[in-house]
Amino acid sequence: MTREQPLALPYYEDPAPGTGALPPRAWYPASDAARLSLNGRWGFRLAPAAQAEDESFARPDFDAAHWETLPVPAHWVLHGHGAPAYTNTLYPFPVEPPYVPTENPTGDHRFTFDLPGDWPGGGDAALRFDGIESAAKIWLNGEELGVFKGSRLPAEYSVGHLLRPEGNVLAVRVHQWSAASYLEDQDQWWLPGIFRDVTLLHRPEEAAGDFFVHADYDHRTGEGTLLVDSNHGSRITVPELGLDIAAGEAASIAVEPWTAETPRLYEAELATAGERVPLRIGFRTIVIEDGVLKVNGRRILFRGVNRHEFHPEHGRAVDLATMRADLLLMKQHNINAVRTSHYPPHPAFLGLCDELGLWVIDECDLETHGFVKLEDWRGNPADDDRWTPALLDRAARMVERDKNHPAIVIWSLGNECGTGRGLTAMAQWIRARDPHRPIHYEGDRTCADTDIYSRMYADHAEVELIGRREETPLEDPALDAKRRAMPFILCEYAHAMGNGPGGLSEYQRLFETHERLQGGFVWEWIDHGIAQRIADGTPYFAYGGDFGEELHDGNFVCDGLLFPDRTPSPGLIEYKKVIEPVRIEGDPGSGTVRITNGHDFADLSHLAFGWAYEAEDGTVAEGALAVPPLAPGESTELKLPSPAHTHGGEAWWTVRAVLAADTAWAAAGHEVAWAQLAAVRPEPPAPQPPAAPRRGEGGVLVLGPGTFDAATGELRHLRGFQVTGPRLDVWRAPTDNDVAALSPAGRQPALLWRKLGLHRMRHRIAGVEMSGDALTVTTRVAPAASDLALRTVYRWTATDDRLRLTVDVTPEGDWKVPLPRLGVRLGLPGSLGDAAWYGGGPGEAYPDTRAASRIGRYTATVDALQTPYVRPQENGARADVRWAHLRGEDGAGIRIDGEPAFWFTARRWTTEQLDAAGHTPGLVPGERIWLNLDHGQQGIGSASCGPGILPRYRLDAAPASFSFTFSVPDNGQ
Ligand code: GAL
Repeated sequence: MTREQPLALPYYEDPAPGTGALPPRAWYPASDAARLSLNGRWGFRLAPAAQAEDESFARPDFDAAHWETLPVPAHWVLHGHGAPAYTNTLYPFPVEPPYVPTENPTGDHRFTFDLPGDWPGGGDAALRFDGIESAAKIWLNGEELGVFKGSRLPAEYSVGHLLRPEGNVLAVRVHQWSAASYLEDQDQWWLPGIFRDVTLLHRPEEAAGDFFVHADYDHRTGEGTLLVDSNHGSRITVPELGLDIAAGEAASIAVEPWTAETPRLYEAELATAGERVPLRIGFRTIVIEDGVLKVNGRRILFRGVNRHEFHPEHGRAVDLATMRADLLLMKQHNINAVRTSHYPPHPAFLGLCDELGLWVIDECDLETHGFVKLEDWRGNPADDDRWTPALLDRAARMVERDKNHPAIVIWSLGNECGTGRGLTAMAQWIRARDPHRPIHYEGDRTCADTDIYSRMYADHAEVELIGRREETPLEDPALDAKRRAMPFILCEYAHAMGNGPGGLSEYQRLFETHERLQGGFVWEWIDHGIAQRIADGTPYFAYGGDFGEELHDGNFVCDGLLFPDRTPSPGLIEYKKVIEPVRIEGDPGSGTVRITNGHDFADLSHLAFGWAYEAEDGTVAEGALAVPPLAPGESTELKLPSPAHTHGGEAWWTVRAVLAADTAWAAAGHEVAWAQLAAVRPEPPAPQPPAAPRRGEGGVLVLGPGTFDAATGELRHLRGFQVTGPRLDVWRAPTDNDVAALSPAGRQPALLWRKLGLHRMRHRIAGVEMSGDALTVTTRVAPAASDLALRTVYRWTATDDRLRLTVDVTPEGDWKVPLPRLGVRLGLPGSLGDAAWYGGGPGEAYPDTRAASRIGRYTATVDALQTPYVRPQENGARADVRWAHLRGEDGAGIRIDGEPAFWFTARRWTTEQLDAAGHTPGLVPGERIWLNLDHGQQGIGSASCGPGILPRYRLDAAPASFSFTFSVPDNGQ
């Protein structure tokens, strides 16, 4: 039975745009016109349905004394009223656009305010809402102003005639679900509420109207041309340039251009008879020329991130300090671009991008991804004329609000809306209104409406083909030719969910090799984990399903480079290294370093270079490195000093580029780029006289400092320390990329591993043999129900104070799946909680996420070695470890030297416990410390959404041999 459409849909189910608002216009943070923030504590009442309560609450005399209060801006579900809910693409309600469920949480808000005593008379006033999710009806002093839709865009209502000096009553009814929800199916929490600022703006007689600042830059002449369109007889002054021009009048003058690297802004003012608006003008010109996107005549390379607005306590109600913190972190990590996924951000964020210097893709608030689940996107609003006015309304409100930001270099129509007439209409409107910025939309592979070829999660091989302009042709030759001539970006890549993403370096190499590949935007900036506590008060971050949602997508909402509390994850540290804008390279042992300026605009004069010659026990010598102020793209080769190296053993140079002076985003000395170059290779240790094994009392064997069980050949004690293991270990708690939830069945490593039983390997002792200097234990390590195995021979030898283990592994059978890891696991007393190691650090690294790991001597507690992924999983390995030392408070402990260097992991829980935990409080320290000493680790990849690991990072079951030497140093060394 089909439901008959009533003649008039209620406003919240009407696909039309909102009503009653003033025409959209440029947003500016301040002017000399009076304004009054209406943020604060508002009265609040929640109803279970849109019409559960009548509209009498909007009357000024309504008695709301018994109502609760709620901060504005806020989402009521984060303040104890209802709960957040997370889905990726699924609509959490039946898909029957434009209808929404009868169960439609509806928040009534009331705020009473007086005008300040000096509020000017005359003129008008505009009441501005910067964002309400998802639809609202608004009244002031009992008069209905209109209906708000388009959650992450502003609307202004003319209210001058309704204002009173005192006791103004603003009433807003917000519905969680509306027809607009069909357009806002972004992958994030569903969070209703008035979540951005509410402001009353005085509009004096002859106030500034809308204005459009055109500030172009001609890189051939060095001249900027300023022209400001404005409806009013306004004047624009730029004192620093001596400019004083009328609206509509162009002026050209020599300027310093704006770029993300050199964000030069000119203070200016737009003045009408009634208002003075401070402006900040950045001169720059964007063109697509010869298939390349250029700013000010040069190709730019996006080192970008996708940023959702998120705060672990406040959701999308993000304050200015948090916005700034995000941008400082981005700049400090060499990030130069933001895609505002998938909606225009709080407008103040864009002002900060102008100021600090970031390229911005401003994306419209539009996603209808849930329709992908229906055959051929059936019913998609993006291809349904009833919705086109709403789409155009969103396009216009974005462009009009944000058009004056130099940082914005690309408009994006939205995300994952399939294809359709509505999108075409948006593109046409935007192109007509602002022909000077290219248009982006990823969802239409034909690029019919766009200027840039954009993809998400394409693998390296395909990206390389695209880089060569050799991609698979489109069916339509004309469209194919047009697309092939376009620049290319990865608007999303390197899915940063949990441990990872892997493979960043290889992408970057492609971007730096092929002119067409203009970089990408990592998905995504921050984990959207919501701050919660378990009963005993232990904090943790919640994800989908934690609030009892009947449909949800689990921890897929935690896929950022920052943890929810904005601590950088290892993925961000890796990304910073991979995208550093200065390349420092050299052949091992050559003593020559090549330095290349990878900036697009800046020369190297803002950086200071230094070298250090380092050995295992510290810096031997260091000094400044005189690097000429290379222009972008230029290289130079320099000889590094080779000081006398008296310490013996391995040595290397570390070359660093740091900020020479304070900037707006980091202090002088902040490291921008670095590299280590081998100077002297490590020498193998000198052989020592062997100690012979002997039988001790109580069925034990004694070999050097070790005591073994004579029957099983297992190590029991090392000097005074009780030891469990070591024995072969191949299991790791699957990472989100191992789980690869979105990969096709059969391509999900963790499932294959579990199916084979790599998490439940059995160890059969096949022989314990004492011969000559060695104790040899032969085992067969295999899962039940399979005849695949890893034959493992442990060969123990010793000197008086050192015990050496050589592990030989030989696979049996036809292994079709890679191993998670290959090494040994051993348990140590929990008192050995302090780690020191010599090798890669300070943070974790895996085979395809190790660019940022640098050789040195490090110390950390075992607790600090853990990386607190929101969903616990494999973490914390240190790469290239030459030796590791676990010590107790008295300094005594066990040292392990590896041959070759190994991966080192230490935890207070087992891999099985790590695997079983769903949230961080599930990790409870046990009595032992569990060490993994790995010869190999499978790479990480990015298959949680995107490609798996590159073939070279697969850990195939293959014959392997590796050694460790165990000792108990007595000097605390
Ligand atoms: C993309 C989408 C993002 C996010 C990501 C996976 O398809 O545009 O919003 O869902 O996948 O985390």
